[in-house]
Amino acid sequence: MKNKFFTRKFVPAAQIRRLRKGMVIKMENDKIILTGDRPTGRLHVGHYVGSLRRRVELQNSGEYKKTYIMIADAQALTDNIENPEKVRQNIIEVALDYISCGLDPEKSTLFIQSQISELCELTFYYMDLVTVARLQRNPTVKSEIQMRNFEASIPVGFFTYPISQAADITAFKATTVPVGDDQLPMIEQTREIVHKFNTVYAPVLVEPAALLPEQEACKRLPGTDGKAKMSKSLGNCIYLADTADEVRTKIMSMYTDPLHLQVSDPGHLEGNTVFTYLDAFCRQEHFERYLPDYANLDELKAHYTRGGLGDVKVKKFLNNIMQETLEPIRTRRKELEKEIPAIYEILKKGSEAAQEAAAQTLSQVKSAMKINYFEDAELIRAQSERYEG
Ligand code: TRP
Repeated sequence: MKNKFFTRKFVPAAQIRRLRKGMVIKMENDKIILTGDRPTGRLHVGHYVGSLRRRVELQNSGEYKKTYIMIADAQALTDNIENPEKVRQNIIEVALDYISCGLDPEKSTLFIQSQISELCELTFYYMDLVTVARLQRNPTVKSEIQMRNFEASIPVGFFTYPISQAADITAFKATTVPVGDDQLPMIEQTREIVHKFNTVYAPVLVEPAALLPEQEACKRLPGTDGKAKMSKSLGNCIYLADTADEVRTKIMSMYTDPLHLQVSDPGHLEGNTVFTYLDAFCRQEHFERYLPDYANLDELKAHYTRGGLGDVKVKKFLNNIMQETLEPIRTRRKELEKEIPAIYEILKKGSEAAQEAAAQTLSQVKSAMKINYFEDAELIRAQSERYEG
């Protein structure tokens, strides 16, 4: 556990005196993580560099009081009404991917969204705080409506999922939401709901902040075909569960620079998927291990741009790196696949713990909204007095 200390300007005089005497005052660690994924398929390397890898580091950093990781099945259903079986099947796939990547049920609460009915209640109340116009302006919703050709037939549940996502985040008083940058509009909308709730009712909810990957390439990793969006239907994803052969084949046929026809031609880095993946995956030590002729990625890029460096050599380098990264995940997954009932048990336990936390927030929300009649003895007394007179 890393300790956090009060800095002088935040501590009362008595505590400063104690600090001067050399006593250490530990600050209450109140940072909480919540994030999640829709279970519509196995997780891929875009999920990994965009959020999964970071979550594991955060979970292990000891800097967070709680880490909640949610499988967002209810949200997945908002645009998969005709596919309940797909969502059901993918719960276990996502859970296996999570744990193989290093999310540890001892340290993180892994749970299933639909099992926490409190989230629906919160969503219902937050709906009063959001206008239709504001939802229509949400950029993520806008682009998803286009992508799905919903236009005139948008399900209300899909349209309002940013509100349900605000419930997911606030139910756990999350301060920190590690996500890819497509989720920024959701966090923004959540912050607005929190602000509105706290202003109108009482300061019960916590404004969360998004935590984005530091590197540009990780924020939105392109598909292997160079298309901005990775999707199962385009067949352009490398999955965490892919075999070594599958990974190699996908890398060797990756989109690069269509103008780089001969090794001697100058190559372009912009939109060159292999280099984008290197930006996301490559570390210094990989050069020592697999490509000692180059000191670092900048040198490799310079050579490519100059001309004289072939795609195949770069792809082989990327393949080495990705195999090294994915190998341990794949191996752990194989082991976990033998323990399916235990994985469901982890999700069940996690869902119970998550429900307990969400119920506390819901109770605070209801009293702030003055809909806690039977717990309010003062209300009942005052009303009966009114009628006595
Ligand atoms: N919208 C996220 C996705 O598309 C999933 C999600 C649901 C989520 N609720 C969340 C992410 C709360 C972070 C916080 O993958």
